[in-house]
Amino acid sequence: MSRLQDKVAIITGAAGGIGFEAARKFGHEGAKVIIADFDEAKGIESEKNLLEEGITCKFVQVNVADRESVDTMVDKALAEYGKIDILINNAGITRDAMLSKMTLEQFQQVIDVNLTGVFNCTQAVLPSMVEQGKGKIVNTSSVTGTYGNVGQTNYAAAKAGLIGMTKTWAKELGRKGINVNAVAPGFTMTAMVSAMPDKVIDKMKEMVPMQRLGKPEDIANAYLFLASDESDYVNGHVLHVDGGIMM
Ligand code: CAA
Ligand code: NAI
Repeated sequence: MSRLQDKVAIITGAAGGIGFEAARKFGHEGAKVIIADFDEAKGIESEKNLLEEGITCKFVQVNVADRESVDTMVDKALAEYGKIDILINNAGITRDAMLSKMTLEQFQQVIDVNLTGVFNCTQAVLPSMVEQGKGKIVNTSSVTGTYGNVGQTNYAAAKAGLIGMTKTWAKELGRKGINVNAVAPGFTMTAMVSAMPDKVIDKMKEMVPMQRLGKPEDIANAYLFLASDESDYVNGHVLHVDGGIMM
């Protein structure tokens, strides 16, 4: 029996990186997947690749920071598949700079996408989850949200804020049959990390007890557990998937 048979999942930021691996994994476990991403070209390409693998999926262009755009995305998902069982709030951006140099624009952009975006998507899917009395919401935090990171004032604020929202929603929505949890990945090999210099990446690897960075599949596996019925009694949890970097 597939672990997500006939479930409908919206995965934001699924055109690339961790989100794409999650879309693939969810699809192979029987889910119907909405690939919700800002990047139209990559989104269309990802949809094509997953359809070729036999996965039921649809790309819907969205800017999670824009509430109108999010509402339209949710309407399209409901029109296509009739319900929403799972929301993976995975879309995220970085605009790194030291505090002394960070512009208000850089600060605000990251808050808008990484924090307000999660609020927007969750509020927009809520009525359909409440109506069916069941739902799974997974928010993507980060090692930076718990431990901080040089150059990431904006990102750390958003990723820490997500943990507060996760726990609040777990308390508000548990009684409605909706589980809300977070995954906090460590440094994971996607476009977000490969933009950093090789010597910084090498230093990071050394800090990890597992002696390697995360792979997108490592994080997608955690999303899968938290999206499946196997985690029905897990609520308000922050699952660190980071090779033990900060023990
Ligand atoms: N720890 C301690 N000190 C550090 C440091 C670190 N990790 N990184 C930089 N510094 C120090 C530098 O050595 C330098 O010190 P001196 O002034 O004494 O020389 C000082 O801080 C300023 O550093 P830069 O010269 O690099 O400053 P810059 O303004 O040119 O660049 C920066 C600043 C953009 C933040 C750049 O350092 C950078 O890109 N750092 C990497 C930030 C990072 O880790 N991003 C994570 C991306 S992946 C991700 O976000 C996913 C996730 O969830 C983890
Ligand atoms: P990525 O950069 O490879 O993919 C992010 C996706 O989000 C892209 O497809 C992008 O188009 C999309 N996106 C960006 N802004 C958007 C918006 N406004 N609306 C809709 N989609 C938007 O990044 P990666 O590495 O796959 O990251 C996924 C999540 O994991 C992010 O939330 C990130 O902060 C988090 N994370 C990543 C880590 C890493 O080391 N790669 C570590 C910890 C957390």
